Amino acid sequence: MIVTIVGGQWGDEGKGKIIDHIAEKADVIARYSGGNNAGHTIENKLGKFALHLVPGGVGWEGTKNLIGSGTVIDPDVLIQELELINENNLPGKIFISEKAHMIMPYHIKLDQAEEAYRGSEAVGTTGRGIGPAYSDKISRNGIRIGDLKDIETLQSKISKNLNIKNKILKEIYNTDEISEKYIFEKIKVWNQKLSKYIANTEQILYENIEKNKFILLEGAQGALLDIDHGTYPYVTSSNSISGGSLTGLGLGAKDIDNVMGVFKAFTTRVGEGPFPTEIFGNDAETIREIAGEFGTTTGRPRRIGWFDAVAAKYSVNINGLDGMVITKLDILDKFEKIKICTHYEYEGEVLSYFPTDEKILNNIKPVYKEFEGWDESTFDVSSYEALNSKAKGFLKNLEDIVGIPIVYISTGPSREATIPIKKS
Ligand code: IMP
Repeated sequence: MIVTIVGGQWGDEGKGKIIDHIAEKADVIARYSGGNNAGHTIENKLGKFALHLVPGGVGWEGTKNLIGSGTVIDPDVLIQELELINENNLPGKIFISEKAHMIMPYHIKLDQAEEAYRGSEAVGTTGRGIGPAYSDKISRNGIRIGDLKDIETLQSKISKNLNIKNKILKEIYNTDEISEKYIFEKIKVWNQKLSKYIANTEQILYENIEKNKFILLEGAQGALLDIDHGTYPYVTSSNSISGGSLTGLGLGAKDIDNVMGVFKAFTTRVGEGPFPTEIFGNDAETIREIAGEFGTTTGRPRRIGWFDAVAAKYSVNINGLDGMVITKLDILDKFEKIKICTHYEYEGEVLSYFPTDEKILNNIKPVYKEFEGWDESTFDVSSYEALNSKAKGFLKNLEDIVGIPIVYISTGPSREATIPIKKS
């Protein structure tokens, strides 16, 4: 059985928590895209751990946690994370695909220099070198984790790349160059600390598929940040949609049995780009403060908006979603009126699909269905039956409007507050 879990919106939907919940029963948990631009926290009896690269199953005994070929890895960040995991005896095993690309120090510098150069048109990247690392992969100049096995050949690849990167850094962006010695010292450490984790992760997957094991594929970011189907150019540089779990792990189209999309009961976005249901003022501030909507990786305040069912339906299509997970329902407890955007209006016409054109997206008017708030705490409610009737009504409408069932809801950060929805 293979289940893919993806972010249904612009990231930060609370995937980490639901992955942790489901991972208890999983044999293999595999991350398929992105890098340390992502971040999730796992919490268990051993403590609370902020992870950026290692899959969320590492907190569970007996799990195999794979970092797939579709990811980009900053080795320094991964080493720090592995040290944290080892010091705290987190029990899951970790395997890194030899095909995964490395984020080199020059990628990080280039990311930051490119953003500065874009000025008012900056994407608002996390500055972690993600875009430049994926660019090198696509232009066939990338350096893969597997390259660490042969330092001599690796040094020659780095020298060639560095020659060009330093010219760009110095002559185009007018910034400092990076010395070859600095990187050569680093790769020795990376080789020493990472070699034992490098593996043929595809083979591990195939063997586990053959044994009929439970495999969980872990998405990063959200569908609307997908490089092809997101709000380009305000997107990340990988395929965060469920399709990325095939290419990013070496699986076939028929391998996936179920795709779950995680959505907040409202919407957030970090960085620049269109956001049709964005709100400002008191409601936005209230949600940001109660829900702690600040980036896990960068600490930036997140932009806030109401649930956008047009975008959610688009997400259903681009991911092939079977079910929705609705997180942070409790954040809406205090609101007198709660809104769901059911369609858009553009130049006086009804628009019922998510458009591609950035100019249209920036000028559409969201049209809302309003619901009366429930003025009752749903925090930590741990069964569907125990929810108040207005909250249930809101969830039922959400399902009807988006058109797929809600399979889990989350009403708080604790493990107990992740509840499967079984309706009578
Ligand atoms: P990059 O992935 O660092 O290149 O950033 C590109 C865009 O994706 C920016 O708008 C980031 O804020 C956004 N982004 C990247 N990773 C995440 C994430 O994990 N959560 C939310 N937004 C993200």
